[in-house]
Amino acid sequence: MVWALPLQNLMLDPVEQIRGRLSIEDVVGSYVSLKKSGSHFKALCPFHNEKTPSFVVSPDKGIAYCFGCHKGGDIFTFVQEMERVDFKEAFTILADRAGISLEFQGRGESHKSKDEKDRLYQAMNEASNFFVQSLRGTEGGAKVLEYLFQRGLTDDTIAKYHLGFAPDTKNALLSHLLPKGFTHKEMAEVGLIRALDTTTEHYRDFFFRRLMFPVHDIRGRIVAFGGRALSPDDEPKYLNSPETPIYHKSKTIYGLFHAKDIIKQEKRAVFVEGYMDVLALHQAGTLSAIASSGTAVTSEQLKEIKRFTDTVIFCFDSDSAGKMATERGIEIAQSADFIIKILRIPTAKDPADLIKAEGVSSWEKLLAEPEPYLEFVFRTAFSEADIETEEGRRSVLSRVLPVISKISNLTEKDRRIQELATRLGTQPNIVYESLAEFSKEKKWKKVFSEIPRSESSTNVFSTPSPYDYFFGLLFEHPALIGIVKEMLSEAHFPSSHQSLYKSFIEYYNNGARFERDGFLALLPQNYREILSVLALKVELQYAELKPEAREEEVRRVALWIRKKSLAEKRKKMVSSLREAVDDGQTQEKFEEYYQLLKEMSP
Ligand code: UTP
Ligand code: MN
Repeated sequence: MVWALPLQNLMLDPVEQIRGRLSIEDVVGSYVSLKKSGSHFKALCPFHNEKTPSFVVSPDKGIAYCFGCHKGGDIFTFVQEMERVDFKEAFTILADRAGISLEFQGRGESHKSKDEKDRLYQAMNEASNFFVQSLRGTEGGAKVLEYLFQRGLTDDTIAKYHLGFAPDTKNALLSHLLPKGFTHKEMAEVGLIRALDTTTEHYRDFFFRRLMFPVHDIRGRIVAFGGRALSPDDEPKYLNSPETPIYHKSKTIYGLFHAKDIIKQEKRAVFVEGYMDVLALHQAGTLSAIASSGTAVTSEQLKEIKRFTDTVIFCFDSDSAGKMATERGIEIAQSADFIIKILRIPTAKDPADLIKAEGVSSWEKLLAEPEPYLEFVFRTAFSEADIETEEGRRSVLSRVLPVISKISNLTEKDRRIQELATRLGTQPNIVYESLAEFSKEKKWKKVFSEIPRSESSTNVFSTPSPYDYFFGLLFEHPALIGIVKEMLSEAHFPSSHQSLYKSFIEYYNNGARFERDGFLALLPQNYREILSVLALKVELQYAELKPEAREEEVRRVALWIRKKSLAEKRKKMVSSLREAVDDGQTQEKFEEYYQLLKEMSP
């Protein structure tokens, strides 16, 4: 008798189920045409323009990856990038394709039916109508309208952007929406009302006594509100809708619906801080203005903007928070490969205030000459440090190097390094060294600490560090683990990937044959994709390498890692030696030091 295991039921992880049913070549093949090339497929990369194919699909590894622009990954990552959607949506698309029912998923927010979602959009729309009516038809509204005029907005602008007023009256909106058939549950779900306690059905309007800015999604549907306080004592100044099934803060951009066509046409997006800035700018003719509204700029927002342009101009408030937002914006826009320019307003708090105080022409003058971001970074770093001191020079390096390290154009990068060296009064090779140190430390920290947010994984592999390469080698040629095991211990690695190395060694020590899939299954999800891509890279680059040459190669890298770690230890020890000398306790320290030197000589 044969025992049949109910395999289907055991495999409850839907992600694995989908993986099991869909091959990478089928998924990718439905978007681009694939050419067989050995055990791989090749294609023109769908993510960037190219004439010779650098996009490789490996059925074996379940990976599709572009060695030109460094985009791609497994089926989920590929669909996310191709369709510009988040993991959940990619998951739904692929589940659909695999014919896997999502019932076991529970009632996740994105699995609301279309009808259910439509109801939520209707509730928001109805709420907006109510706020608009209240602005025009109540005593309180009249005052708010007056305030808007006094801030320089015209009737047209106020109407076009559906500005409104949430009245003072208790539960005004709630009593307006109930008779229209919206349930408490629906209103609470979109954040229009909130429960006062958990035991009874006591609800309150979420917004009252506020000037209301509706937030439209890219298709023009109202998905959220920002409510501005009417007196300086009211906290917070802006109350924003919470995250809801139809509102995802990190993705939403205020003004984009109205700005998107112009952004595409003018080939630039002007990123500002506030609702009022967007409105004042649109009214003044800068229709490409948008705002992140209540969050710092996110990479998801930039991804959205990338659909329309490659150029962003950051024009944040003139205070120090605005400067920090600019620096942060530069960092993520650089990773997303934008042309970045900066506007700092010297004479006013923000664009809206500038226009109010000095008129449109002074804004236009500023906008005509935005500062390239590197100029901005250099200028601020140097102006805020005293480069006559060691500390000042270090501060400049720590602010400028992260930005330089991400410059993709090598000539430009080199030119900036020269510039930095000249201005710091040192040699370019010194700056190159600091840069190398910096990049090495940062890179893996990035790979292993930031990657879980799956969308940030792009570009990590563009310049693999020796560590990248090392793990790629091990994963592609697991037989080599036996060799490196004798040369390296966990402590030789930076803390960020000690645990990965440990996993390799432990798996190997268990004695069983090294099964790639089995090994991957033990790792956190984000490591899996990384390793597969790195191994694919090794596979393609060193396909020809004979086993002996491979062995030699892995020894070489392992030795580098060992030396690197010892050198670092030595550096630390030298400084503790100095302290020991100061304290007069040298004997023991010197013993340790000599021991280390001995270890270092091969
Ligand atoms: P600002 O305080 O600069 O406001 O915040 P503002 O847009 O210039 O408004 P006015 O001109 O004083 O009327 C900038 C943006 O930050 C978000 C809002 O999106 C605001 O437009 N913000 C600010 C909040 O989300 N909550 C707050 O409490 C304050
Ligand atoms: Mn402002």
